[in-house]
Amino acid sequence: MTVEHAPAEIPKATSSDWFQRAVVYQIYPRSFADSNGDGIGDLRGIISKLDYLKRLGVDVVWLSPLYTSPQDDNGYDISDYRNVDPLFGTLEQLRDLTDGLHARGMKLVMDLVVNHTSDEHPWFVESRSSKDNPKRDWYWWRPPREAAAAGAGPTPGTGSEPNNWGSAFSGPAWEFDQATGEYYLHIFSKKQPDLNWENPEVRAAVYEMMNWWLDRGVDGFRMDVINFISKDTSLPDGPRGDGKLYGDGTPFYIDGPRMHEFLQEMHREVFAGRTGELLTVGEMPGVTVEEAVLYTDPARAEVDMVFQFEHVALDQEEGDKWRPKKLLLTELKQTLGRWQDGLAERGWNSLYWGNHDQARAVSRFGDDGTYRELSAKMLAGILHLHRGTPYVYQGEELGMTNMTFGAISDYRDIEVLNHHREATTHLGHTDAEVLAALAPLNRDNARTPVQWDASRHAGFTTGAPWIAVNPNANHINAAAQVDDPDSVFSFYRKVIALRHAEPVVSHGDFTMLLPDDPHVYAFTRSLPDTTFLVLGNFSGQDQKVTLDDADVAVGDVPAVWDSAELVLGNYPADAAVPLLHLRPWELKVLRAGAGRPAR
Ligand code: GLC
Ligand code: CA
Repeated sequence: MTVEHAPAEIPKATSSDWFQRAVVYQIYPRSFADSNGDGIGDLRGIISKLDYLKRLGVDVVWLSPLYTSPQDDNGYDISDYRNVDPLFGTLEQLRDLTDGLHARGMKLVMDLVVNHTSDEHPWFVESRSSKDNPKRDWYWWRPPREAAAAGAGPTPGTGSEPNNWGSAFSGPAWEFDQATGEYYLHIFSKKQPDLNWENPEVRAAVYEMMNWWLDRGVDGFRMDVINFISKDTSLPDGPRGDGKLYGDGTPFYIDGPRMHEFLQEMHREVFAGRTGELLTVGEMPGVTVEEAVLYTDPARAEVDMVFQFEHVALDQEEGDKWRPKKLLLTELKQTLGRWQDGLAERGWNSLYWGNHDQARAVSRFGDDGTYRELSAKMLAGILHLHRGTPYVYQGEELGMTNMTFGAISDYRDIEVLNHHREATTHLGHTDAEVLAALAPLNRDNARTPVQWDASRHAGFTTGAPWIAVNPNANHINAAAQVDDPDSVFSFYRKVIALRHAEPVVSHGDFTMLLPDDPHVYAFTRSLPDTTFLVLGNFSGQDQKVTLDDADVAVGDVPAVWDSAELVLGNYPADAAVPLLHLRPWELKVLRAGAGRPAR
């Protein structure tokens, strides 16, 4: 193995603020590695790649759900919280994976999906069985609207839903249940009924399940849409925009009235007495900075950090992913800068470009053509040099790109399929229009199999993959990168190692520079004795960076950056290029430390 610049032994996160020094790697099991040729990734597949993860240097692995599930939403619809779906393996194999990670100094974070269950979960099966079943109140059951108003009989499917909310996956957020003549609420698919967190038995059952997992050795949870669990119990109609089929319920279930109470209770019941190093991250669509400070303030004992969504909504009209628009770098900097400032004193950021719900980072924020490798590295450097805990989504470390799908039949994601059906049947859009609109931001972009090598099906499976492999696997793959010191993979190793080696990366103050520059992302990170200047060129043209002396200082001394040390860059060092000159998609991390005074 020859990896230049990267230290042979990557230092690990050790201190009590360990998660602030940690890097998390997300695995979407279905698409990671298939061990038995059925075309679907599985636990044995993951276990076979542990040394790969170790080599990358990550501290924590977050597993998207592999619990028992009908797979309506690829496992985010859980029918047994305490078992592994046979598709992915067994509880014993999950134990082996946990042990294998721990033996290599890594931790395991499980996905926790408790805003809703599967409609096949025994809790829901009981709940729907009769109006007086003890679990009836575990979900959100309401009579048809006319019936509620007039005491008349139900008229299902004709607008008698209890309110006008639309589901996140198209159609109404309510499903009529013939057996008892009532509707149940499902913010996601009709196979994902929402749990009623107002009911203390529901909360107790969830906490008991979480404790069961922690007792089995897992090291924390990524909490799926956790800021949806407290709803306005009057469930009022939401505003309905022009051309929309349904009302917007989000004002009544995002960051609802009892959110902080519920998370504090969860903390008391699950995490409080435990001594290990645990990590909790709440996935929180629509969360504001002001709320995030409260969620992540350690003194309040709620969660360690949250995933916010503002920076992944900038390339779409009105937050509608099916109406993509061009991203402006000035807006990206404004948004991420505001989150850096907002959580500077209290709370903690999570940092991500992508996950299983987002387009591929290099296609979205970089250039996945000529400058794919350079821009993938630049994006890694910019993100990981922010203050917060960075997340790497599987394949991002290889510079994997978006997929070009053909017909709608090539897609697998329920969100895409439902949207296509609704837009072509109810909104009058043509098939071609819908396909064009959903190409850049659909979730299947991120769900094509990890590209391990250039063999058939990219080494992901020996069988027929559940979703097509990206044809660029012939040149973008792990085998071509792990031993190449100039690869995207090796660059991620360096970026991760830098965080572990340099306290200024994990803990330094953040200051955004050049907010109005349309092409250059520039900021400093500083501790009393160390300052890093981070520069990223988000364009395919050369850029000259002009900074005031006063912009950057080491302690009280203004820095002259022409004399600084290049700590990390994505181009080979070239003395002929001035330090403040950036080539296409260039990244520079420059240090002016104590004892290296400005000249
Ligand atoms: C989260 C998950 C997404 C899922 C949804 C419903 O946003 O990340 O994949 O579809 O919640 O569980
Ligand atoms: Ca398999």
